[in-house]
Amino acid sequence: MKILVTGGCGYIGSHTVVELLNNNYEVVIIDNLSNSKKEVIDNIKRITGKDVTFYEGNVQDKSLLDKIFKENKIYAVIHFAGFKAVGESVREPLKYYENNLDSTLYLLEKMKEYGCKNFIFSSSATVYGKPDKLPIKEDFPLSTTNPYGTTKLMIEGILKDVYNADKLNITILRYFNPIGAHESGLLGENPNDIPNNLMPYIVKVATGELECLSVFGNDYDTHDGTGVRDYIHVVDLAKGHIKALEHIGGLHYYNLGTGNGYSVLDIVNTFSKVNNVKVNYKITDRRPGDIDACYADSSLAFKELGWKATKGLEEMCKDSYNYVIKNK
Ligand code: NAD
Ligand code: UFG
Repeated sequence: MKILVTGGCGYIGSHTVVELLNNNYEVVIIDNLSNSKKEVIDNIKRITGKDVTFYEGNVQDKSLLDKIFKENKIYAVIHFAGFKAVGESVREPLKYYENNLDSTLYLLEKMKEYGCKNFIFSSSATVYGKPDKLPIKEDFPLSTTNPYGTTKLMIEGILKDVYNADKLNITILRYFNPIGAHESGLLGENPNDIPNNLMPYIVKVATGELECLSVFGNDYDTHDGTGVRDYIHVVDLAKGHIKALEHIGGLHYYNLGTGNGYSVLDIVNTFSKVNNVKVNYKITDRRPGDIDACYADSSLAFKELGWKATKGLEEMCKDSYNYVIKNK
């Protein structure tokens, strides 16, 4: 079975492509390399010993989508392509609405035209806004606090309408906080710019590229006052897509998280311990828009897909560091 993976050169997409190939799916990738590098394709081949078909280009390019659907009988689309930086989305909302919404609309239009019936979408825990209760279940109220999050929520709404009209099979996966990297050290995340997210920032402090981590607030209502999140190993997350594909049918929403909440200081301390490296940090003001704590109830994914995360925080911290050290 051929799977079209949009954004397959990116952080989560590349790990998912590896799992797809390991499970004997054929993979077609479309990626415009706006936030990734072509060498990812070679590394996927090195890890799996298998080939992928790669189209370099934009998902908003309808003629390229025509070419892809004509040249390949696509069984399902897994749609990762999009922009994801929260802060940038506040400064440049139109860039986010255009890329994230148009890509999805054009893809759905072409799937309909070419009779492709199965769609898996990368959504985010950000669609739960500021949850009243924890852990978060799929039926909690939805809201957003930034344009990036709004694109995810709008796309979820579009997908529901498309499901009602066209009876596509649609699975919406809401990721919590993916970290870690492939154990080979060949795939991972290492942004060129100053990172917004915690783990890439910690890694850059550990390697000496950045001086000191700012811990955004220690007066939250959590066990040590710093923000608590549900960090999930990217390989566990990737495997969730295989399970979603195996069970596709109808319209479904699943949280993909571990159910464990770790604070910023838990992460810093575990990272330092397992990698035997110092991470300088200072406590600073809260980051606007941040919430105290966010972690998943992922029992629905276990019940219906037979999926659960298996990798712990120590492995996540080791693999995140290993990737960057090996690729310095
Ligand atoms: P990423 O930036 O590493 O990967 C996205 C890939 O899509 C990149 O390779 C980029 O070049 C490509 N791309 C972007 N726009 C494109 C377009 N119009 N046409 C073709 N290619 C395009 O991001 P990621 O962390 O792998 O995230 C993948 C998806 O998961 C995104 O939709 C993101 O919003 C979602 N998500 C990510 C997180 C996270 O913390 N990483 C959390 C929740 C949801
Ligand atoms: N943090 C710091 N210092 C930093 C960066 C982060 O203290 O330099 C703290 C934050 O305040 C927060 C925690 O570390 O308490 C995690 O922050 P991230 O920026 O890594 O992650 P968020 O939970 O804020 O958001 C991320 C993505 C969102 C996505 C969400 C859930 O950026 O798009 O995970 O998937 F919606």
